Amino acid sequence: MNNKVINILAISGSLKSTSANTNILRAISKIATKNVRVNIFEGLDKLPHFNPESANDIEVVNRFRQQLREADGVIFSTPEYAFGVPGVLKNALDWVVSSGELNEKPVAAISASPLYSGGDKALASLLLTLTALGTNMGARSSLSIATIKSKITDTGEIKSDETITELKLLLDRLLNRIIF
Ligand SMILES: Cc1cc2nc3c(=O)[nH]c(=O)nc-3n(C[C@H](O)[C@H](O)[C@H](O)COP(=O)(O)O)c2cc1C
Repeated sequence: MNNKVINILAISGSLKSTSANTNILRAISKIATKNVRVNIFEGLDKLPHFNPESANDIEVVNRFRQQLREADGVIFSTPEYAFGVPGVLKNALDWVVSSGELNEKPVAAISASPLYSGGDKALASLLLTLTALGTNMGARSSLSIATIKSKITDTGEIKSDETITELKLLLDRLLNRIIF
């Protein structure tokens, strides 16, 4: 790897202002070394409902696709809603099935939940969708974080050393799959 800045787009499946998943992505951006820029995607809630018959020049959709194209890798962190991926995240992914921005893109996926299951069903579902999209997922490119409330402070800092280590490893594995 050379000295080029690596751009990672981080997408949270939660719209909550105090989202643990968004805070996990913020923690990853702090963990990242100087040559790695982690941009948290804003605007999942601005994307219209996906319709295959929609016109192909919707500005917010174009901007989303552009940010994906410009990213060297993408990290997702999602809550589980009713055993699945939140609709806003699935909707966003549906917008790029045909346009292919995630095809062969190195990705990593996280789920975090206050429950002991760690949102594992949402993570499994997200991984299936990322497979359908043709993403580049290596071995151990996903992480399910259980009992997240015990691992994060009220202000959103990760306080579990074990979780910080796991996030570092996940980021390292993603970076190792980004080849220039
Ligand atoms: C509509 C709804 C459904 C939920 N369903 C699940 C679930 O199936 N499994 C789970 O582990 N947590 C579930 N939760 C709890 C979320 O894991 C919890 O709210 C979590 O903090 C959301 O992540 P966030 O802080 O990033 O928004 C649900 C929460 C909501 C609001």
